Amino acid sequence: MADGKAILDEFKNTNGPAKEIDSSKKLRVGIIGTGWIADAHIQVYKKFPDVEIVAGADLVPGKAEAFFKKHEIEGAKCYGEHTEMLADQANLKLDAVSVCTYNMTHAVCTIDSLKAGINVLLEKPMCVTLEEGIEIMKAEKESGKVLSIGFQPRFDPNMIMVKDIVQSGVLGDIYYIQTGGGRRRGIPTPFGTSFIAKETGGIGALGDIGCYSLDMVLNAIGYPKPLTVSGYTSDFFGTSPDYSGYRKDKREEYAKAFGVDDFAAGFVRLEGGIILDFRIAWAMNLDTPGDTIIMGTKGGLRIPSTECWNGTIGGDLTIYSNIGDEKVETKIPMKKSDVWCFDVKVRSFLDAIKEGAPAPVPTSQIIYNQAILSGIKKSADLGREIEIEIPEI
Ligand SMILES: NC(=O)c1ccc[n+]([C@@H]2O[C@H](COP(=O)([O-])OP(=O)(O)OC[C@H]3O[C@@H](n4cnc5c(N)ncnc54)[C@H](O)[C@@H]3O)[C@@H](O)[C@H]2O)c1
Repeated sequence: MADGKAILDEFKNTNGPAKEIDSSKKLRVGIIGTGWIADAHIQVYKKFPDVEIVAGADLVPGKAEAFFKKHEIEGAKCYGEHTEMLADQANLKLDAVSVCTYNMTHAVCTIDSLKAGINVLLEKPMCVTLEEGIEIMKAEKESGKVLSIGFQPRFDPNMIMVKDIVQSGVLGDIYYIQTGGGRRRGIPTPFGTSFIAKETGGIGALGDIGCYSLDMVLNAIGYPKPLTVSGYTSDFFGTSPDYSGYRKDKREEYAKAFGVDDFAAGFVRLEGGIILDFRIAWAMNLDTPGDTIIMGTKGGLRIPSTECWNGTIGGDLTIYSNIGDEKVETKIPMKKSDVWCFDVKVRSFLDAIKEGAPAPVPTSQIIYNQAILSGIKKSADLGREIEIEIPEI
């Protein structure tokens, strides 16, 4: 099995292409939550001449200070809870914040920041429950600020290619999609229990990596509305003190702390008569739960699965179709690129602020992603299919 942390760390390689940037006005940026993924955010912000990193907040005393020291940012003001930082907004004059907290505080940090008049780049998943997502969207609308959700794989050239293929019409009308993926032994605990404890993670594999698979296919087909969902979740691996993916000296502790799903599956009906069949695993006794397939009336697309650490795709694509009576298989090679999608995620957010443009990864789409995640959890808890209802905001 590949080393998960090494693969995750690829997101910290930020050798993106140089871009002409107007630095006459600097955007004042703060970071909420200075843990693991905040490293990637600050490394990207540091590259841009129109950004000044002025503040950071973390609940753990001294963590924000250590973070700025490590990244050699001088003069950034440090706070504890995000509310302390936002209370100082009159002095800080923040234009933007990155919300890099664990899932359970995504909603409160985002809503409070929007209410303080600050543009927000919010890490994925959007939040934990659909209700939180709706509150986030209300705050976004009232504030008129830019809120973009941190789905960087969307900017990967191969993901763009998947969308281009579907949108070209070569597959005809889409009627069935299977997606998801997983890891054999990959419950994330590189820095402790923030992903696996209910109080911090809230949802497990479902939100952590499930959201990426959903974004890949939903973005490709134009984000139709989810109508119903029948979901299943389990936690057989995470709660076991024998789970071989945990460090030997931490097995008891992590098994006790585990309060989320390590496997989830869902059968979702989407607007337009499309069926979405989804499964995602942080741990399983299997190599893969299957490739992503998009079936259409004129062609079918196979997207090889990966161990799914970071939302990328696993190899060359294949389109299955017919020319006359002949069965045809067309291989579409993976594109290689030196564009780091994390750069594009941050830059496109900053550009949207400067240009008054819409959010690059808008909540109007991601609320459907969130509705499916939350719907799977709710349906699994209730033991039956549920209808998804999303009010107009
Ligand atoms: N886009 C990606 O590639 C990617 C990769 C990894 C993680 N993530 C996402 O980033 C988020 C954070 O992950 P992480 O690995 O950095 O977690 P982490 O536990 O290392 O860091 C989170 C930090 O947030 C702080 N925090 C929580 N609530 C706070 C509040 N109200 N005010 C101030 N600080 C607060 C915590 O003290 C902690 O230090 C998760 O939601 C995860 O899904 C995204």
